[in-house]
Amino acid sequence: MSVHSEIKRVTTNTLKELKNKKEKIVCLTAYDFSMATLVDAAGIEVILVGDSASNVMAGHQTTLPITLDQMIYHAQGVIRAVKRALVVVDLPFGSYQGNSEEALRSAIKIMKESGAHAVKMEGGKEIEESIARVLSAGIPVMGHLGLTPQSIYKFGTYTVRAKEDEEAQQLRDNVKLLQDLGCFGVVLEKIPAKLATEVSQTLEIPTIGIGAGNGCDGQILVIHDMLGINQDFSPRFLRRYADLATMMNTAFTNYISDVKSGDFPNKKESY
Ligand code: KIV
Repeated sequence: MSVHSEIKRVTTNTLKELKNKKEKIVCLTAYDFSMATLVDAAGIEVILVGDSASNVMAGHQTTLPITLDQMIYHAQGVIRAVKRALVVVDLPFGSYQGNSEEALRSAIKIMKESGAHAVKMEGGKEIEESIARVLSAGIPVMGHLGLTPQSIYKFGTYTVRAKEDEEAQQLRDNVKLLQDLGCFGVVLEKIPAKLATEVSQTLEIPTIGIGAGNGCDGQILVIHDMLGINQDFSPRFLRRYADLATMMNTAFTNYISDVKSGDFPNKKESY
């Protein structure tokens, strides 16, 4: 029995309803309590505790190094903040590819220790058994196809995926497989807009795009990228909604100057 709450929570069913109403689903990543509080209060429907934390929080070049325990640490902070959004947590590289038992153990650990509402897993046919096993425990799974950053060393580059017929057909087969297995949604990363629109129209479950055009049922961005905190990353699909790096730099330089000059703290700021 859950504790009573005034706020109507977003669930996996809500996402399906939004798709059926043709209302776009808005998703963002978050990795800590303070940011997740703001994201949730703004009305974002899905918060992804993405393994992009490996890049933007820890400074790694890829998503591969982040561990299951580190993902759980990030997810715990986000869950403590969120009152309404659906919180999805990435199963990190190495925590589910080995076999389906390992996948189930990792997903259960995330759900138990963080209180997350769902997990996300990268891949299709090759991890079919793992996805099925996690779903069989009642854990909602979001798929992730197209550019799957955990396989970056297989691809060798971060360029657009599924441009050629063979890979496009593979993607069509995989999205259908994910739906048939029981995934509640699927992230489509960096694929041609035409293909993303086509699969979004044929699927009953919602598609969430990043670099996949506006035919998807929803969109997701990495929060540091869209806030302009991370200035080095400017792919074509990214729209910057703020220039926080500049704002923060101004705040830091003003603080330095006020402390150096003795202006801060003044009398009113002292006891
Ligand atoms: O880890 C992440 O942030 C993601 C999104 C880019 C979809 O998987």
